[in-house]
Amino acid sequence: MTKVLRSVVTGVGGFLPKTVVTNDDLARIVDTSDEWIVERTGIRQRHKAAEDEPVSDLAVEAARRALEAAGRRPEDVDLIVVGTTTPDLTFPATATIVQRKLGCPVGIAFDVQAVCSGFVYALSTADGFVARGRSKCALVVGAETMTRLMDWTDRGTCVLFGDGAGAVVLEPQEGEGTTADRGLLGFALRADGTKQDLLYVDGGVSTNGQVGHLRMQGNQVFRHAVVNISEAIFAAAADAGIDVHDVDWFIPHQANQRILEGVAKRVGIAEEKVISTVAQHANTSAASIPLALYQGLQDGRIKPGQLLLLEAMGGGLTWGACVLRL
Ligand code: ACO
Repeated sequence: MTKVLRSVVTGVGGFLPKTVVTNDDLARIVDTSDEWIVERTGIRQRHKAAEDEPVSDLAVEAARRALEAAGRRPEDVDLIVVGTTTPDLTFPATATIVQRKLGCPVGIAFDVQAVCSGFVYALSTADGFVARGRSKCALVVGAETMTRLMDWTDRGTCVLFGDGAGAVVLEPQEGEGTTADRGLLGFALRADGTKQDLLYVDGGVSTNGQVGHLRMQGNQVFRHAVVNISEAIFAAAADAGIDVHDVDWFIPHQANQRILEGVAKRVGIAEEKVISTVAQHANTSAASIPLALYQGLQDGRIKPGQLLLLEAMGGGLTWGACVLRL
């Protein structure tokens, strides 16, 4: 069997800002209730970054923890890819700010903007460097301050999102070219720009010069989510050469408990294999998958060598799935 280079996750980190906002807190500012939010979404609380806490600070903390878990130092990092839709500044890329704050040497650093699909896009993109031997130690981060994009008078969106960051260290390791190899085994990425109106931010540099607010036709997004994500999961599984039933853990983007369960059911994954953090974190967009992975590792459920299936869907619309062995 020919040897192949794989992008292996050697460390995982996560970070949540200190302030917790409960559903009851939100019910004091918009016409909603804990009961409605829990029943429709599964969300009980979310974390909110402080005003002087930019997204790069969250990313740096998550990255530090991932590097520590991998036994690597900032000096080792030669590639940083940050999935974010809430950058510190219009430019430079948040990845370069993370590079400076961590003290990483000159290397490659850029952001990937695929909203809630940011982490699966970033991971697949980094694989293009690591599995070709162009990076020896990559940081892939999903970091968001989604609360900065909220219209706090819109109960249909402001109850759904939270802030946080998750990160993984990716390193090249030789594999046998089989599904027993550690590393990213397959992925499928999708985008459909005709669905922009379902989920977008109504501001931007070259339109109105504003940051804008998140606008969403939630029930329409919901309708697309289960069908589209399921297709991408089967495509990623085929790319990896695995059967979805072989997966040890399903780590979905944490948008809504009903979507998580709907997708798991449609693709035939048992409920007990689903890692869900939506109750505690809400939707942290690109951060939600690495945060859920971090939680699953911290609480001892996820173990090295296990087969993981990640998926996400977000603004664009974008969506996708990745299969990796830890
Ligand atoms: N509290 C109380 N009532 C509410 C709230 C709230 N927070 N929000 C909406 N409602 C009301 C609506 O006004 C509506 O009332 P009406 O019937 O009197 O008009 C009613 O609840 C039903 O509204 P729907 O939008 O049809 O409710 P639905 O069951 O679809 O739940 C939700 C809404 C939770 C947003 C759901 O559609 C959803 O989760 N959608 C997907 C979100 C998602 O996955 N986004 C993708 C990722 S995000 C990203 O990429 C940035």
